[in-house]
Amino acid sequence: MATAARSLAAGGLVAFPTETVYGLGADATNPAAIARLYQAKGRPAFNPLIAHVGDLSSARQIARFDATALALAETFWPGPLTLVLPKTPDCAVADLATAGLDTVAIRIPAHPVARDILRIFGGPVVAPSANLSGHVSPTTAAHVQSDLAGRIDLIVDGGAVAVGVESTIVGCFEQPMLLRPGGVPRADIERLLGRALVQPPEDADSDNGQPLAPGMLASHYAPRTRVRLNVIHLEPGEALLAFGLGAISGIDAASTVMNLSERGDLAEAAANLFGYLRTLDTKGARTIAVMPIPQDGLGEAINDRLRRAAVGRE
Ligand code: TXA
Ligand code: MG
Repeated sequence: MATAARSLAAGGLVAFPTETVYGLGADATNPAAIARLYQAKGRPAFNPLIAHVGDLSSARQIARFDATALALAETFWPGPLTLVLPKTPDCAVADLATAGLDTVAIRIPAHPVARDILRIFGGPVVAPSANLSGHVSPTTAAHVQSDLAGRIDLIVDGGAVAVGVESTIVGCFEQPMLLRPGGVPRADIERLLGRALVQPPEDADSDNGQPLAPGMLASHYAPRTRVRLNVIHLEPGEALLAFGLGAISGIDAASTVMNLSERGDLAEAAANLFGYLRTLDTKGARTIAVMPIPQDGLGEAINDRLRRAAVGRE
């Protein structure tokens, strides 16, 4: 467990058992580690991730709990329930892990191995299920090994997990919403709340054919400033989101330039993406102009998120 915590602190990717399924953990505050995590899962898509914490006071440092959220946390944590909550202003979870949303998904797992790792590590750990994208979630260390050996730094074998399906995800919005059915039965939650959980809208994105969750992905992060993609000629006064050191005409008249990765590294670009978009959005530019980004590796997910940011305001 100490080795796992050290590896996480060094930016490593560590698979570990939770009571639901094995998770693939990374330091939730380290965007470069999170970019590697998306890469390791293959066919990368920046689905927002669940931040795992060891106790309620750590959870309250990263998210705001209203009375309903507190009641759910006190009743079902530690355990297979994830709450989607508004981030606190000083939330340490990287924008890349929350896909730039203003909300963060959190849970306190019940598995003793997960709890020990979180306690020793001492910070939030993001962990999607430890499978390749499109595969089913792993319930043994051997499943993790067969999907991810060679792509990650460490697998902590804690035997077969107890629950075997992922956590139930509840969005603590005006009306509490069942974003994904899972380890805590809906009826138990509704009994505590004294009312029915509402359903997410029909157009919710699907998580690679796994149980639907990301109801709120309809509200993908989009800057207020217009976004223009695949730009090779800059108009005066535009803010430039650059990639690599390729030439671009009109750059002298740019209002601001931020480079996702001067050395053209897609993992570095992914780690910087949401933070840079947010910064450029505050500069009062007419447009955020984005240079072409290659479509390979993490580039596919970067381009997907950029397209969503662009249509958001068209
Ligand atoms: O049992 C589990 O929850 C396991 C173990 C490892 O903890 N983890 C897991 O993570 O299933 P993952 O990444 O496979 O699924 C997380 C789901 C995704 O469908 C994602 O869209 C949703 O949580 N999610 C995360 N943050 C969200 C947010 N801010 N708003 C809405 N949905 C969110
Ligand atoms: Mg999954």
